[in-house]
Amino acid sequence: MKNDLVHSLTPIHITKEFDGDTLAYLYFQNDKKEAAVNSQTLTEIQDLSKSGVFVASAKSTFFIRASYIEKNNILVAGLGNKKDFSPEKARQTGAVTFSKITAEKVKHFGIDIDVLLKNTSKSHAEEVLDGFLQGFYLASYTFDKHKSSAGKTAPKLEHVCLVSKDRKNQAWLQTLADRLLTTIDCIFIARDYSNEPSNFGTPEYYANDLAKLAKKYGLKCKIMDEAECKKEKMDLFLSVSHGSDREARVVILEYTPKTGAKSAKTVALVGKGVTFDSGGISLKPSMRMEDMKHDMTGAATIVGSTFLAARLGSKNKLVTIVAFTENMPNGRATQPGNVIKSRSGKTVEIINTDAEGRLVLADALDLAQDYKPDVVVNAATLTGACSIALGKLCSALFSNNEKLTFQLQKAASKTEEALWELPMWDEYFEDLRSPYADMANSANDSYGGTIRGAVFMKQFIREGTKWAHIDLANRAYDQGFLPYNPRKGATGTYVRTFAEFVMEY
Ligand code: BES
Ligand code: ZN
Ligand code: ZN
Repeated sequence: MKNDLVHSLTPIHITKEFDGDTLAYLYFQNDKKEAAVNSQTLTEIQDLSKSGVFVASAKSTFFIRASYIEKNNILVAGLGNKKDFSPEKARQTGAVTFSKITAEKVKHFGIDIDVLLKNTSKSHAEEVLDGFLQGFYLASYTFDKHKSSAGKTAPKLEHVCLVSKDRKNQAWLQTLADRLLTTIDCIFIARDYSNEPSNFGTPEYYANDLAKLAKKYGLKCKIMDEAECKKEKMDLFLSVSHGSDREARVVILEYTPKTGAKSAKTVALVGKGVTFDSGGISLKPSMRMEDMKHDMTGAATIVGSTFLAARLGSKNKLVTIVAFTENMPNGRATQPGNVIKSRSGKTVEIINTDAEGRLVLADALDLAQDYKPDVVVNAATLTGACSIALGKLCSALFSNNEKLTFQLQKAASKTEEALWELPMWDEYFEDLRSPYADMANSANDSYGGTIRGAVFMKQFIREGTKWAHIDLANRAYDQGFLPYNPRKGATGTYVRTFAEFVMEY
């Protein structure tokens, strides 16, 4: 697992002594402020605490530059009240710490583990460290490959050390560090994919890149071009790509665990990969249309989770289907009023060519069910209405199975990436009746848009298939109010959740 990263993440070393330039102590609010430093420095830390300058509330840091008595700088970081601690607090503290040490031009950063272990149990310390390091590394993300200054920025952080004098902590910390870096790497794959502008991030680009990643991590990869999609009767999917000069691709990744336990389940993950959504003939307004390069974030998230689950050695099998296409308005583009036959045989009247995600997914979900999976979960930036319904803090979850809803919410509560269930009652289908086809892809008013998207896709789920749909349009990008997310661009939210779900299913 180690040294097998796509991104050049700052390496983590497990050491007994610290010889870097800045050592951090993580404290809960009511902790006795102990530290393995000179008594004068310790008094300084305790004075900061007494005077209220640093009381270890979550997200607070204080930097003490090395004096003649101390060989390295000290950073104290707060975790808030121990009683209502959650890893999210550590995540945010980790992110704030990263900004702080970047401003201070720190090159060799360490975290004192022994002091943390004095103040809390090992399992709790693990939650703290995992959260803190997640936030710290997530905050380090940049997407500057298209800047002419790329790679020429000031010297960056070179090492992170987890410092413990106790040899017995070594294996534990190493495992934690390896898992953490793998997790971050997969979240960064999702962020990179989502951020890629659509003139570079074409369906062909993602398909080729996935073939490379699949080879690297031992997954099977099949790429379907438009001719193959046509053979598979995926006309609903192809109707979206008609208006684009760039060819569509469907990518199927398969992961099989090395030791095939009898209890192994097959999980199918499906992602919407619209590399640019102009709306098609139902053209979108130009305001913020540039954000529609992110309309493949469902696919990016699913891909990130797939590699994460595989690299962490999931006991379950995975079939991942990501369908990439552009939605563009040329002379061959699908027009409102057109009737298209789906892979399942059901016909659809296209009312609005901007409701294209559900068309892409309908055929991809049908294909996924051919693999006879135990469960199918899809993710998509499906509706703008998702932000209207739920705001920015949780994405929408739909399922035809109560236990599956519970399992997904359990995974989401573990990762603290909340999912909220919305209803998918059949009565809502009345809004999607068409006089000319089995259904319409949209209604003529804007009520319950997120629910209608789900109810549409439900029409392509076969009897007995356990299925869930996550509309993550509201959390895909521009969530800079969380300190571990970039100010602009992709977040990678739900990569951890889907991986957790796959591993635990
Ligand atoms: N890709 C959009 C949804 C979207 C909008 C995601 C804004 C992120 C931010 C999707 O394809 C779309 O355009 N949906 C329409 C559906 C409508 C025409 C029924 C929408 O939400 O307006
Ligand atoms: Zn659209
Ligand atoms: Zn879209």
